[in-house]
Amino acid sequence: MPIYHTLGKMPHKRHTQFEKPGGGFYYEELFGTVGFDGMSSLVYHLHRPTQVKQVLETVDQTPKIAVERNMKSRKLIGFQVPPADDFLESRQPLLINSDLIFGLAAPRKSLRAYFYKNADADELLFIHKGSGMLRTMLGSIPFKYGDYLLIPRGMIYQIDFDTEENRLLYLESHHPIYTPKKYRNWFGQLLEQSPYCERDYKLPQNLETHDQKGDFLLKIKKQGFLHSLVYAYHPFDVVGYDGYNYPWGLSIHDFEPITGRIHQPPPVHLTFETSAFVVCSFCPRLYDYHPQAIPAPYNHSNIDSDEVLYYVDGDFMSRNDIAQGHITLHPGGIPHGPHPGAMERSLGKTRTDELAVMVDTFRPLMITEQALKLDDGIYYQSWLSNDETIN
Ligand SMILES: [Fe+2]
Repeated sequence: MPIYHTLGKMPHKRHTQFEKPGGGFYYEELFGTVGFDGMSSLVYHLHRPTQVKQVLETVDQTPKIAVERNMKSRKLIGFQVPPADDFLESRQPLLINSDLIFGLAAPRKSLRAYFYKNADADELLFIHKGSGMLRTMLGSIPFKYGDYLLIPRGMIYQIDFDTEENRLLYLESHHPIYTPKKYRNWFGQLLEQSPYCERDYKLPQNLETHDQKGDFLLKIKKQGFLHSLVYAYHPFDVVGYDGYNYPWGLSIHDFEPITGRIHQPPPVHLTFETSAFVVCSFCPRLYDYHPQAIPAPYNHSNIDSDEVLYYVDGDFMSRNDIAQGHITLHPGGIPHGPHPGAMERSLGKTRTDELAVMVDTFRPLMITEQALKLDDGIYYQSWLSNDETIN
């Protein structure tokens, strides 16, 4: 998505005859988003990509909402999400609005029984535990702990895991996920002040080209339903492509933190953006170096956004009783800040090893039934001092 990329072979000129060595033609497909205005790639198939044999069952995937209007800070114990063999069944939608689904998954098995396409949303996977290979119609990306994988809508993919111990955070975004505009120049190149650059991208490689006829099951998510279609040819039959619309990856460990003499605001952690939410990476870094700096963040009122923090690793200085896999939700409209004692505890500290992913949504989030099962139920009172009674 972020830069021009090409794999395999293609004709010298777009939209011209592209002959197979043994006779016949390859079939061109424009694979784009946002009508004809967004990112696109020109893809060359062995077979026409339109050959549907059957349309089978449709399964409702609409998340079940438990709390529609939430005004409670919450802590979810993410590692309590139960593992499941199937990649899609392992997904637990937790926080949703009309723009995105935020969920966790603990898939045990590689996805090989069928192919998957999300026609509703760009997907962003964050690999907390596990490693493997994202295999798509436009090439493969090896992944490991700390990787973000961005899979644009419409991409047909499977995923291989090296072991059964996998923990993923996933987002399904109804808006395209982009690199931050403030870090791009007029031509789209990332600027010197960007916390990551093009060299950090994990681009798809090793195009898999299968010339295979048969019955190939493709599960397509559309309008919140999962539709099963049978295709007549292997969906990975691409011999070449070029353009800007393809899956790519970025390691959170390659995000270079921006620090200052006094506390830097959360936008310095901005990693990806959409028109409806942002994704930020909190990475190990040196603390503020003004002699009287307060490394802990100040209380703040995020009046018009809901804040979700997913804790990956390290010690979370501003919070008490936070562990790996925990999620905190701070709803817009009420202030939040460091826990009792955290501000004082932070004084004189010179560095942090915290690693976390934050998602700030511009519209309020609803709480799913699955999320309530992970909710500790008491987090919203955790800013009270010990000597205050709760009536
Ligand atoms: Fe915050």
